[in-house]
Amino acid sequence: MQVLVLNGANLNALAERDPELYGGMSYPELETRIYEWARELGCTVRCVQTNSEGEFIDLCHEARRWADGVIVNPGAWTHYSYAIRDALELFSVSVVEVHLSDITAREDWRRVSVIEDVVSHRVIGKGPTGYQEALVFLAHKGKVTS
Ligand code: DQA
Repeated sequence: MQVLVLNGANLNALAERDPELYGGMSYPELETRIYEWARELGCTVRCVQTNSEGEFIDLCHEARRWADGVIVNPGAWTHYSYAIRDALELFSVSVVEVHLSDITAREDWRRVSVIEDVVSHRVIGKGPTGYQEALVFLAHKGKVTS
């Protein structure tokens, strides 16, 4: 299985963001963990981070040619980008929405996800481990119980 893990705005600066919310791990460390989890599951993963909304959308379009599953954390775009929502809607493969922090327990504007109804599964507030759960979901085609 080939999986695109696409992280959006400001996730490159993870280590400098509020550790109470984001755990203090750096973005390169996060990618390393994701690659390890993927290897354990027998998945091939391509991790990409971008601060450009247009590039995020282009990467989605391109992944339609090769990805068997997609994991996205669009960062703040989650809360208002209908362009990213439209791009995700084009996928015929499963898309999992991941957030490190619990967006349901933060500011009102963060509680809104404009992508939630175009994804197959959501993992929220579980820190880096959320990406592992998302990979397990894709690898086992939805047989996740937690
Ligand atoms: C985030 C939550 C968003 O509200 C925020 O803008 C981010 C990260 C998360 O992973 O918790 O950049 O998506």
